[in-house]
Amino acid sequence: MLKKLLILSSVLLASMVSSTVLAMGDAEAGKQKSATCAACHGAQGISAIPMNPNLAGQVPGYISAQLADYKAGVRKNAIMQGQAAILSQEDMDDLDAYYAGLPAKISSVLSEEDIAMAAIGEKIYRGGYAERGISACMSCHGPSGHGIPKNYPRVSAQHKEYLEQQLLAYKKGERMGYNDIMYDIAFGLTELQIKQLSAYMAGLK
Ligand code: HEC
Ligand code: HEC
Repeated sequence: MLKKLLILSSVLLASMVSSTVLAMGDAEAGKQKSATCAACHGAQGISAIPMNPNLAGQVPGYISAQLADYKAGVRKNAIMQGQAAILSQEDMDDLDAYYAGLPAKISSVLSEEDIAMAAIGEKIYRGGYAERGISACMSCHGPSGHGIPKNYPRVSAQHKEYLEQQLLAYKKGERMGYNDIMYDIAFGLTELQIKQLSAYMAGLK
């Protein structure tokens, strides 16, 4: 119960903060600085490779925060730690402003199998999973997966494979965020539920 209250208050706080503090970077400068990123994340922040996340239309502030986490080694990934190592705070804020301002990808077209999976994933996304004390994903990521600036990332318009990989990384304790919210949540999910949720989020409009 206490945990639920804590989670709720952090969500309220996030939405209050979001209305006052938004990305402070310069999107035009960010565009210039994004040339190296485009090779993996696509020219418009929409990548062709399922393991490379789409960045276009991400909530303002999230990209900058994740880059800082890679740079500090809080979030571990050899490629991205190398990329972030050479970025200043200003670079991160500029890149953040640029990607947050790009139009998000139109949601993925799901296969028959994924549609069936997504129907089960939807129940957890919208209603949570009380048996394991998991709150509804939409309370933090929004009913249509658009996220809440700046801490709660967009999970729609994202590759299914990337979403699945990240949820597994949280579950195994391999990805640490600025707090352990997602670790607690993913730990309680089975690998099948992770697949079902990922299919649902990827198809969200
Ligand atoms: C060689 C390929 C490559 C390059 C170049 C690259 N990235 Fe990445 N990026 C990745 C991969 C792969 C991941 C997923 C890493 C993980 O699992 O943590 C990622 C993850 C990210 C994330 C986390 C997204 C999320 O939804 O949490 C951000 C932000 C990001 N990259 C920004 C950038 C920026 C900005 C640049 C340019 C300065 C850049 N990347 C250059 C491959 C690349
Ligand atoms: C209490 C708020 C909260 C709830 C509920 C929540 N999340 Fe999250 N989620 C977060 C935060 C905060 C992050 C970013 C954490 C970090 O820095 O790693 C995140 C990150 C993610 C990411 C990584 C996105 C990316 O671009 O790398 C995925 C995927 C995700 N959540 C899926 C889910 C799913 C599925 C559920 C429901 C089972 C859920 N979340 C419930 C707060 C929440």
